[in-house]
Amino acid sequence: MTEINFDKILEDIKPSAAEVEKVKLLSNGLINIIDGLAVENGINAEAMLVGSVAKGTWLSGKAVKDNADIDLLIKFPLTTSLNDLKRCGLFLGEKCIEMVKGYAEKRYASHPYVTGHIDGYDIDFVPCYSIKDARQLKSAVDRTLLHTLYIQNKLKNEKKDEVRLLKKFMESVGTYGSEFKVGGFAGYLCELLILYYGSFQDVLNAAATRWHPHYQIDLEKYGTAELFKEPLVVVDPVDKKRNVAAPLTQQKMSEFMVAAYNFTKNPSQEYFYPKKVEHDLNLIKEEFKKRGTHTVLLIFKPPSIPADAIYPQIKKTENSLVNLSEREDFKVFGSDFWTDEKKKVIILLEFDTWKLPTIKKHSGPFVWSKNHQDKFLNKYKEKAWIENDRWVVGVQRKHEEVQSLIETALTRGKIGYLRFGKHLKNEILKKYEMMDLMEFLESEEVGDDVLGFLYHYLHGSELLWR
Ligand code: UTP
Ligand code: MN
Repeated sequence: MTEINFDKILEDIKPSAAEVEKVKLLSNGLINIIDGLAVENGINAEAMLVGSVAKGTWLSGKAVKDNADIDLLIKFPLTTSLNDLKRCGLFLGEKCIEMVKGYAEKRYASHPYVTGHIDGYDIDFVPCYSIKDARQLKSAVDRTLLHTLYIQNKLKNEKKDEVRLLKKFMESVGTYGSEFKVGGFAGYLCELLILYYGSFQDVLNAAATRWHPHYQIDLEKYGTAELFKEPLVVVDPVDKKRNVAAPLTQQKMSEFMVAAYNFTKNPSQEYFYPKKVEHDLNLIKEEFKKRGTHTVLLIFKPPSIPADAIYPQIKKTENSLVNLSEREDFKVFGSDFWTDEKKKVIILLEFDTWKLPTIKKHSGPFVWSKNHQDKFLNKYKEKAWIENDRWVVGVQRKHEEVQSLIETALTRGKIGYLRFGKHLKNEILKKYEMMDLMEFLESEEVGDDVLGFLYHYLHGSELLWR
């Protein structure tokens, strides 16, 4: 096995002493401002640093794709009403961001919070209840406090770099992040895996060779793992009724297992850096042409709802179009979607079968069911025939082409039959385009992000090996 120079990788992903200093200064400053504002305004609340910065497991700002994130809780006593907590929490966060001349953006998790963009950092100000125990839990964010304390207690200093290696590996192979957009591994989950297995290499060995569907990890031996049905079960050490791996999809669990297997077979430091992939327009065209399938794109504007809420809705829309097509005998080869969250959603549908004959076989009653037989024959007369034990007939198909089926389904009178959210339905009813992929690739200025999406659609496992 080739030796990997982990020190070299850590140099790139671990925050330098200067960066640690800067982040501590920034977060302490913000905490002081919040606490001061609370006193000034007679609000009973206190700020606290949580998340990976508090736990010492964060990646250097230059090693993450988006801005590095700092998580601050604004803790309220349990006696505070939910209304006051939301109102005062937002007020304190927004006021603080304004005072340091940052840019504020409202967001929603289980309840609203505010993110400040300050000095190249994204700082979340999340109001929560000051709880001591999971039994006092009022909302999902309250758990964050307990997570932070647990990891600060249990994770030894020398293991923090192991967490960083695992997070970075996960990120480069595309499995890091518990948000719906990814459906992968949360930072806290990475920390628990290191606590359980001891090191980066041991987590990878386990995932590569021993994980299977419904694999269970129960660090505190609560014995509650059987409560959960998800593909990976990691009982939350601070809450025995919670599976930390609940947001992890089977897809991402499988991808991580394969990437871990590939890495253990053929280790390379390239696994800790972004993979450079060429996505050339002409090559992508060629590849789609060679497949001989038929690919259509449905393009529309995303509704103005919080970004986290857009993804599940688009996924639902994609699924319901796939189901509709298959119900009408159009076989789907694959599907996927992309969005920039602001201007454009693209749902891609690739078909094995996109054109069907005029006639469609319709099965009727059994021959011994005389009553039904009479009715059936009354309607279809000599057009009907017998196959084994039942009557069948050829009827006129409503849509010979899948595009016409979908276009009809997306009209005001029909869209109600599809199962997806009203926000997206309204956008689609306002305006959408349905295009042949080839036509799209010829006619439009295709952005690099969209090409990247098409490339990864064609090469689903590209990031899992180096
Ligand atoms: P973050 O997503 O910011 O995670 O959530 P993190 O641990 O700080 O890791 P990175 O380095 O930023 O990626 C902040 C906290 O919210 C809770 C955890 O307690 C986490 O520490 N959380 C978040 C969960 O419990 N589950 C989730 O799916 C997401
Ligand atoms: Mn964080």
